[in-house]
Amino acid sequence: MNIRMEFPRVIHLFAEDVSVLLTQAAGAPPAIVHWGPRINADDHELVDYARTSFRPGIGNQSDVPYEAGILPEHSYGWSGLPGIRAHRTGAAWSPRLEVSSVTVDGETLAEGCVAQCPGGLVAISAHDEWAKIHVEIEIDLSPRGLLRTRTSVRNDGTGSNHLEVIGVDPSLRLPLDAREILDFSGRWGTEKIPQRHPVVVGTHARESRRGRTGLDATTVVAIGTPGFDAGSGRVWLCHVGIGGNHEHAVERSDGYLAFRGGELLLPGEVRLASGERYVSPWVYGSLGIGLDSASARYHDFLRDRSLSSHRPRPVTLNVWEAVYFDQDFETLADLATRAADLGVERYVLDDGWFQGRSDDTAGLGDWIPDEKSWPDGLAPLAEHVRGLGMEFGLWVEPEMVNEDSDLARAHPDWLLRARAELPPRFRNQQVLDLTNPEAFAHILGVLDGLVSDLGVACLKWDHNRDLIDAGHPGTGTPAVHDQTLAVYELIDQLRSRHPGLEIESCASGGGRVDLGILQRTDRVHTSDNQDPLDRARMLRWTGLLVPPEMLGSHVASAVSSVTGRTSDLHTRCAIAFLGHFGIEWDIRELSSEDSATLSRWIAAYQQHRELISTGRVVANGDFDPDAPALRGVVAADGSEAIYTLVTPPLSADSRRRVRLPGLLSDASYRIESARPESLGPWWLNPSWLDSTSDLDSVAEAPSYSGSLLREAGLDLPTFHPDRALVLRLVRIDA
Ligand code: GLA
Repeated sequence: MNIRMEFPRVIHLFAEDVSVLLTQAAGAPPAIVHWGPRINADDHELVDYARTSFRPGIGNQSDVPYEAGILPEHSYGWSGLPGIRAHRTGAAWSPRLEVSSVTVDGETLAEGCVAQCPGGLVAISAHDEWAKIHVEIEIDLSPRGLLRTRTSVRNDGTGSNHLEVIGVDPSLRLPLDAREILDFSGRWGTEKIPQRHPVVVGTHARESRRGRTGLDATTVVAIGTPGFDAGSGRVWLCHVGIGGNHEHAVERSDGYLAFRGGELLLPGEVRLASGERYVSPWVYGSLGIGLDSASARYHDFLRDRSLSSHRPRPVTLNVWEAVYFDQDFETLADLATRAADLGVERYVLDDGWFQGRSDDTAGLGDWIPDEKSWPDGLAPLAEHVRGLGMEFGLWVEPEMVNEDSDLARAHPDWLLRARAELPPRFRNQQVLDLTNPEAFAHILGVLDGLVSDLGVACLKWDHNRDLIDAGHPGTGTPAVHDQTLAVYELIDQLRSRHPGLEIESCASGGGRVDLGILQRTDRVHTSDNQDPLDRARMLRWTGLLVPPEMLGSHVASAVSSVTGRTSDLHTRCAIAFLGHFGIEWDIRELSSEDSATLSRWIAAYQQHRELISTGRVVANGDFDPDAPALRGVVAADGSEAIYTLVTPPLSADSRRRVRLPGLLSDASYRIESARPESLGPWWLNPSWLDSTSDLDSVAEAPSYSGSLLREAGLDLPTFHPDRALVLRLVRIDA
C-alpha cells in the first residue's frame, strides 16, 4: 500500500514464528526496528510505529541516542563501530549514504510504501556522491526464518586513487532484554568450551586472525534473555559465514544492543580500483525460543545445500589412528577387509600416502603416491576397497606445502610470505599461494587427477596451519582475504567437475567450521579428540551450527589418544551415534566380542541414519551440572526420536527425572534402549529401564504419553558417572 509519511518505507518480513521489521527513512540505510517473535499489524499500524524511529544528529538534538541502522554511520553521529570503514588515502573516510532504491524480492518498493512479505530478499542501493562510494545491502529472511545480510562496497571514483575498505560490520539489532551471552573458546583437541556471561556496556569481541576459523573459534554467539537454555528463553544465535580472518562481536551502548560481525581485513588488503567492489561475507542470525529452535534454522539452511542430508551417510573407517604415517598396501588392504566385514561403507586413507611423507616434516605439495610405501600406486587399494563394496576416500591438504617438497623447491615463489623470509613454520608447513593463477591451476589439476584416476568419492580436506604472515610473495601485502576466496573457488571448480564428490572439512580437527566452507563441504572432522565424553560436548556445541549428519563422529580406541582417558566400547558407540558415524581405530586389535558389538552399532546406525539426517535436534541439561546431558533427534512428524543421555561426572542426585523434548503431547511412545551395563545399583533402577529392550526390538516394552515424557520426564539413575544411554522412542498410537 502507498502511504505518504515522514518515514518513506516500512518492510515487514515474516517466516514461521519470526518477524523482522525494517524501516528506511530520510535517505538512511534501513534499521531493524524489531527482530523477534512474529507480529501482526496492518500497514497503518506499522507506519505509525515506524514514526518513532528517526535519524538523529541531523536535527541538531544533543544527548539523544543515535538510532543505529544496519550500517551505522559516524557521519550522522554514531560513536560506536561504523558499519562501513573505508578511505581514499586518508580522505573520504566517513561515508554518508543516501539510499537510491529499495527492492523486495526484485520488486521496487517506492518511497512511502509498506511491504509485508513471507520471507524474501530486500536489496538496498545507496551511494555517497561526494566520497564516490556505492553500496548494495542485501537483507534476506529464509522461509524458515534465518536472517542474513551482506554488503558490497564499490569504488565509483574515476581517478587512480584507490578506495581502501577497512571493514564492513552490519548491525543486527537486538532488544535490550537479551542480557546474557553464550560463546565458546577452545584449543587443539578441546574445541567448544562454553562460556556464559552478562552483556555489559562495551564490546565483547571474538576475533580470529588465523586465516582459518580456528580451534578456539566461537563459531556462533548466542545472546538471549537471562537463563536461556536449549528449550526456553528468547535467543538470537549469530554467525559470520567466512573462514578467513573474522570477528563475532556483541556491542552494547546507550539504548543499543546488536550483534556485529564481519571479515577482519588486514592493512591494505582490500584496495578497490575504480569500478571494483568488495563483497562482505554473509552475517547470519537466527531467533529461537531456546537454543535448539534457533539452531534448527541453520540446520535447515545447510540441509538444503549439502549432499549429506540427501544421501544415506556411509559408515566410515578413517585409518589415521590405526597406522598414522606407517602405510603399506598389505596393512591398509587388511584394514579395508576387516572394515567391510564390520559393515563399514566408506574407507578413508589419511595422511602419509604421498611422496616423502613418512612424518609431518616433508612431502606436502607432492601429491603423488610415495614410491616406497606405494610402489604400485594407490589404484590397487582403491580397487580393493571398492571390490569390498565400500567407497574410497582420500586425505589431502591442498593449501599447504612442506619446504621439504619438490613443489616448494621448484616454486619457492608460490609460498605466501609477508617479507622476503618465509613465515615461521607451523606443523612444519607453509601456505601455497592460491591467489597465483599458476599455483591454483596446478593444484586444481592435481586434485582433479586424483579424484578421476582413483575414483575418489570423498576428500578429507585438511588445513593444519594458521595463516601467519600470509602475504603475497613479491609484494608482501596481506593475502588472507584473497586466499580465502581462492580456496572457495578451488573447491567450487573441483566440485563442478565432480558433482558427486563429497568433501570433509578438517583443520587439525574442528578448526574450519563456518558457513563459508560448509556450503561447499559435506561434513566436518569435529575434533582430533575422539574421547567420547569430550565428544558429547563438541557434538552438542558444534552442532548448534552443523546438523548431526555433517558432524564426523568416530569410535576410537578404548584409551583416547588425546586425553588418555579410558572408556568402554558401549560408551564410545553410544556417544558417536548421533552424528556421521565412523571408526578411527586400529580394528586389527578388536576381540571377536568387540567386533560383534561394533557390528551391531553399525547396523543400528544404518537402520536409523535417516532420522539422524533429517530429525530436529533437541537437548536438555546443558547448564545443570547435576543433570544428565541429553541430546536427541526427533522426526519432523514426531513419530520417532532418538536421544543419547550421558550421566554427569558428579551429581548430588541418585536419580533424576529427565524430560524428553520434542515429543508430541497427544501421542504414545514405546521406549527402547541401548544401555550400559549399569547406571547405578539395582535398587535405583526404575522399572521402565529394566523392561526396555534393545533398539529395534518390538518385544514388550514400556510406553508412555508424549506429554508425560516431555513435561514430567523419565526417572533415570545418575549414580554411576559418565554412563551413556541411547533411548529410542517410537510412536505407537498412529
Ligand atoms: C590433522 C587431522 C587429523 C589427521 C592429521 C594427519 O591433525 O585433524 O585427523 O588427518 O592431520 O596429519
